Amino acid sequence: MINDLKNEIESVKDLFFKEVRKVKSVDKFKIVKEQFISRKKGFLTNILKGLKDFPKEDKPLAGKLVNKLKIQVEEELEKLEKSLINKKEDSIDYSLPEFDSPLGRNHLLSYVKNEVEEIFIGMGYDIADGPEIETEYYNFTALNFLEHHPARDEQDTFFIKNFENRVLRTHTSPVQVRYMENNTPPIKVIAPGRVFRKDEVDATHSPVFHQVEGLLVAKDINFSHLKGTLSFFLKSFFGKSVDVRFRPSFFPFTEPSAEVDVSCFLCNGTDSHCKICKGTGWIEILGSGMVHPEVLKNGNIDPEEFSGFAFGMGIERITMLKYGIHDLRMFYENDIRFLNQFG
Ligand code: PHE
Repeated sequence: MINDLKNEIESVKDLFFKEVRKVKSVDKFKIVKEQFISRKKGFLTNILKGLKDFPKEDKPLAGKLVNKLKIQVEEELEKLEKSLINKKEDSIDYSLPEFDSPLGRNHLLSYVKNEVEEIFIGMGYDIADGPEIETEYYNFTALNFLEHHPARDEQDTFFIKNFENRVLRTHTSPVQVRYMENNTPPIKVIAPGRVFRKDEVDATHSPVFHQVEGLLVAKDINFSHLKGTLSFFLKSFFGKSVDVRFRPSFFPFTEPSAEVDVSCFLCNGTDSHCKICKGTGWIEILGSGMVHPEVLKNGNIDPEEFSGFAFGMGIERITMLKYGIHDLRMFYENDIRFLNQFG
């Protein structure tokens, strides 16, 4: 019987050391520990339980042999546990540089929008916004567009199906009327935002693009205030050396109206094949004018008491000009090689 026990002890010992050599992780360690010394069904526990069947005179020796194995196994497991813990700590190398997780950045269009905002905030303007889904009233009627004005046409404007008189705003100008309705002069705001037109996508057109609207209404505002404000803005944005020129134009919601150009900052009019100004020496930037009396009235402002000016410009357009981008589609493709160059 003692010999059977000795054999059993030897084979459990062999098995134990074979298993121990395979342990590479804490999880595996736990499994081996369980297998050999768990109280319920560990190999060693089983052998110990078997001792009670031994004849009295063999019991001391049998007990000694099993105990010896138990101590060996426990010591080995303790050693193994320590080395696993040490290994875990060793695997962290504190001298390595930190992970370089790439930081996001503003899209160039957001960057330029912020640039424009900063300049106007510097002149005391507030920032306003309005809904992208507009009523025909705010997008057209309140802005003095006649009933059959071509801009109202289905060909130019996205009408919302099954939602009468709703359109995707075609410009930021409806914010003018909404703002006047809710505020009293003096009013000084810009309103950047998305606008929508039924245009085919090409290098200079997109059905979704961005504008910044400007509106100033107070007592005794005249065209020279408009000129001074826009000249200051354009020189701040494009550089002090650009010249600014105002050309007569037409918008239903301003009278008089003016288109505003800057002198070509690429060739200054010296290159007849210039990519930007096509040799004219001037680049068209924005639309502007004195707020039409009808529009003031629609905003509940008395045109006898107050006057004002308004302007609107395309953010994509001024960004392309300032940063030399030749294809508007680049803004929306989100090619990381493009985005990483700016902002
Ligand atoms: N809303 C006009 C456009 O989209 C621009 C503009 C705004 C013109 C304000 C005059 C005054 O073209």
